Amino acid sequence: MCGIVGYIGTKNCTPLIVNALKRLEYRGYDSAGVAVISHNQLQVQKKAGKVAELVAIVDSHPIVGTVGIGHTRWATHGAPTDINAHPHMDQQRRFALIHNGIVENYMTIKHRLEREGRTFTSQTDSEVLVQLISLLYDKVHDFETAVRLGLKEVEGAYGIAIICADEPDKLIAARKGSPLVIGIGEDEFIVASDASAIVSHTRQVVYLEDGEIAVLTRTGFTTKTIDDVPVTKEVEEITFDIEQLEKGGFPHFMLKEIHQQPETIRDAMRGRLLPAEGTARLGGLDSVKDRLRQAKRIVFTACGTSWHAALVGEYMLEHYAHVPVEVEYASEFRYRNPVLSEEDVVFVLSQSGETADTLAALREAKRQGALGLGIVNVVGSSIARETDAGVYIHAGAEIGVASTKAFTGQLTMLALITLMIARMKNLSVIEGQRIVEGLQLLPELSKRILSNTQNVEKIAEQFKDARNFLYLGRGYNFPVALEGALKLKEISYIHAEGYPAAEMKHGPIALIDENMPVVVVVPQDDIREKVMSNIEEVRARGGRIIAVATEGDTDIHRLAEHVITIPQTIPMLTPILSVIPLHLLAYYIAVARGCNVDQPRNLAKSVTVE
Ligand code: AGP
Ligand code: GLU
Repeated sequence: MCGIVGYIGTKNCTPLIVNALKRLEYRGYDSAGVAVISHNQLQVQKKAGKVAELVAIVDSHPIVGTVGIGHTRWATHGAPTDINAHPHMDQQRRFALIHNGIVENYMTIKHRLEREGRTFTSQTDSEVLVQLISLLYDKVHDFETAVRLGLKEVEGAYGIAIICADEPDKLIAARKGSPLVIGIGEDEFIVASDASAIVSHTRQVVYLEDGEIAVLTRTGFTTKTIDDVPVTKEVEEITFDIEQLEKGGFPHFMLKEIHQQPETIRDAMRGRLLPAEGTARLGGLDSVKDRLRQAKRIVFTACGTSWHAALVGEYMLEHYAHVPVEVEYASEFRYRNPVLSEEDVVFVLSQSGETADTLAALREAKRQGALGLGIVNVVGSSIARETDAGVYIHAGAEIGVASTKAFTGQLTMLALITLMIARMKNLSVIEGQRIVEGLQLLPELSKRILSNTQNVEKIAEQFKDARNFLYLGRGYNFPVALEGALKLKEISYIHAEGYPAAEMKHGPIALIDENMPVVVVVPQDDIREKVMSNIEEVRARGGRIIAVATEGDTDIHRLAEHVITIPQTIPMLTPILSVIPLHLLAYYIAVARGCNVDQPRNLAKSVTVE
């Protein structure tokens, strides 16, 4: 949530900060701002709206300096206005702070500060923090000490960067619950909430951990805990390229990412299939293989699209590995005292690896003695670093706020994990080989779907003004229905519901009339006939059916107004193909409605607050 960037070095930092904010904009985009120390004074410019609005101001009133910070906001406390935009300053305009997260006890601190004579200009929790630090500075007269003492009072989460006009050759950054990376350049350092803001300057990075603070100057930096205990950090290398952060000729990141799937599905499997043995080898899970085989229960926990992937994983693992699986929203898991034992394995799924609810669920699982494993995309992210073991899906940077390629990457990984566990238990080599073959064909099959998207585009045009949509599916494709509906809601703002097809008759069927588009996922599998009956039920009530069906299914044309075809694969793998047209449908509808596909309203790419 929100993008943070800070610079200290020898260059004029304003253009650099603004460019970094453009890269970070996918993390939050309701307002943006910069603060730079210029001639020992703080200069701040901030504006509600997109980074482009800020750019216009910065271009017309340039500020020059070599130490500065910038922020794109995703409002939690206070409306997205100019005043609530970050950076925030203290009353004396000595400090400028950017903050990602929530200061949960901000009201208590605010009342105390008000009693001490401080007045506030914004409604944010973040301003309270900078005013607190400023008050402490009046007592201790040391920038670093004031920041540490201030942070010790904070309940909640923060990633911050702060500068001080009285100590103009310093930048301080700290984290608790929100990500922060330090990029190490030559005579310059950049702090940011993710590496995409850093990669065009340096590949050498250091990740801050919770409770750590970094004090940066032009010549070096020190890291310690907020309790003043020094910590030594390891320098790591960023592995992705700058091209991954560009649109590569596509009008939107989302469309680019949808079209990358033949490669990203392949990348998720690369070097991990053992065709002769009919299994998968997952280096990241090698150390915990025995515990996986012996697990009495597997729990998946995640949010949003990752939660949908987990639901498919439940069906896969129970079917092939005969292990009881539970899937739970991470936000519920953390607060409901879940029953866990040391024989349980908890998998957390997260594209970003930074989702606060998911991270908290992981910590709860580990606290209770369960093995905490991860299926993550972003390398080096908080979740990836806190799990006992895990696997990366290697889908590359996903910039579109709506998750697409990460979903199919997660599904591919879940299929590999299922294969590995099932083969350690009951699955025969022949059956294993059949799954391996199915997996190997997926990149080609997904390419086939993507080579002809005109049909989907036409359907989108026809239904773009619908007020509601219903999505139905069964078995492996029930979570795909949920995912199709979520994506439509997120980017086109059309109300959509996903349902297990047979559950429709227990309620949502009341919604069906001639205005209701019903998207049904009905691939050729052992439950197809049942879904066909559900389609009949919709048709009998005048609903307009858009079917996602297997190539060669002629019967479906009798019932559906529109048919989108996908190639045949084994049932377990159908979601990896059937979701592609649904993501495309949401995309084209959103484009036809003139929506901002990559940055839908109210959303942010990684949700690092509760
Ligand atoms: C997906 O389109 C969403 N924007 C959202 O539901 C997302 O999947 C969820 O916030 C979880 O994110 P994560 O995978 O990064 O943890
Ligand atoms: N809680 C802060 C605010 O509402 C920070 C939000 C963010 O992470 O962007 O301003």
